[in-house]
Amino acid sequence: MKVGDRQYRTIWVAGDGRTVEIIDQTELPHEFVTRRLTTLEDAAAAIREMRVRGAPLIGATAAYGVCLALQDDASDRRLDTARQTLLATRPTAVNLRWALDDMAARLKPLAPAARVDAAYARAAEICDDDVAVSRAIGEHGARLIDEAWAKGGREAPVNLLTHCNAGWLATIDWGTALAAVYVAHDAGVPVHVWVNETRPRNQGAGLTAWELGRHGVPHTVIVDSAGGHLMQRGKVDLCITGTDRTTARGDVCNKIGTYLKALAAGDNGVPFYVALPHTSIDWSLDDGVAGVPIEERDPAEVTTVVGRADDGSIVAVRVTPEGSAAANFAFDVTPARLVTGLITERGVCPASREGLLSLYPERGGDAGPQMAAPGNDDKTG
Ligand code: MRU
Repeated sequence: MKVGDRQYRTIWVAGDGRTVEIIDQTELPHEFVTRRLTTLEDAAAAIREMRVRGAPLIGATAAYGVCLALQDDASDRRLDTARQTLLATRPTAVNLRWALDDMAARLKPLAPAARVDAAYARAAEICDDDVAVSRAIGEHGARLIDEAWAKGGREAPVNLLTHCNAGWLATIDWGTALAAVYVAHDAGVPVHVWVNETRPRNQGAGLTAWELGRHGVPHTVIVDSAGGHLMQRGKVDLCITGTDRTTARGDVCNKIGTYLKALAAGDNGVPFYVALPHTSIDWSLDDGVAGVPIEERDPAEVTTVVGRADDGSIVAVRVTPEGSAAANFAFDVTPARLVTGLITERGVCPASREGLLSLYPERGGDAGPQMAAPGNDDKTG
């Protein structure tokens, strides 16, 4: 996507062919800052501190983290260390494990001398694939938006509600939920987006609003608890969110608060769609509520809010009394029964095992009854 007059992806290799650059999302929406990652630890810290975030981008950053790790030592041992270090950064998005497994499977059979170039080539491929996949998700999702517009007589704008940031900042480009918005908007479908602020880190207020604003998409930021009210008043035509891990039977784990939006949508007959690339599907897991590791982050993200003061400085202010305990669960699971459909790069399907297998028949052997809960062995957070 364009920022100013320059086309950006969220992660890229610098001119030296080795250093990796990212957009530092902790600085948005107030500053647009890029940073260089030169070591494995830089990549791990960028994921941990959420300088990069969003499931597909976490996976891509981990792939480049492997590249950086191998530069001066491409041994099996170093490869294993890189995997462990990166896997321990954030536990919920399955794209992280997917990317690390993919890199290991391709690099391990090679002689160490061939690994560095192969690692950079594969990481670049993961990024290019993600762009193509996101764009395809956008095309499929935009059809649903167009149908909603047609249902309303192609007069009033389609009112969408989204949660967190599932836009281009969360992927390499385009996004997942927001890719549908961009494709529809670019095709002339009038869209207005209700943007949940997404406490505690405000990815909606800070990142989604920033993205939509730059793309010229009409949007309104609302507090997280406003969605139910808007749905009762008929002000939401459809909800589209992203996901960090979708199980083989279609349970969806996404940013905390997604489940409550799905409940409100169900109660009000508002379609609730979830957009995802194949890299966000955990074929080894069925029951998302029991099986997905939910990240718990620093309670300070709940007790304080970060923003820009009138004098331009970035400040953190406390919103709770000293001494009150706070808990910071970063994700929740929406059971498949509350999801109207999954929007993937291969099309839209019901949120069910049968639905997913109709689009990914090659996974038929993997998506059987729950296996030995490998979804839990990355419970590192
Ligand atoms: O904690 P975050 O900001 O990494 O959480 C991101 C989300 O919950 C997104 O909705 C999800 O990763 C899908 S991104 C296309």
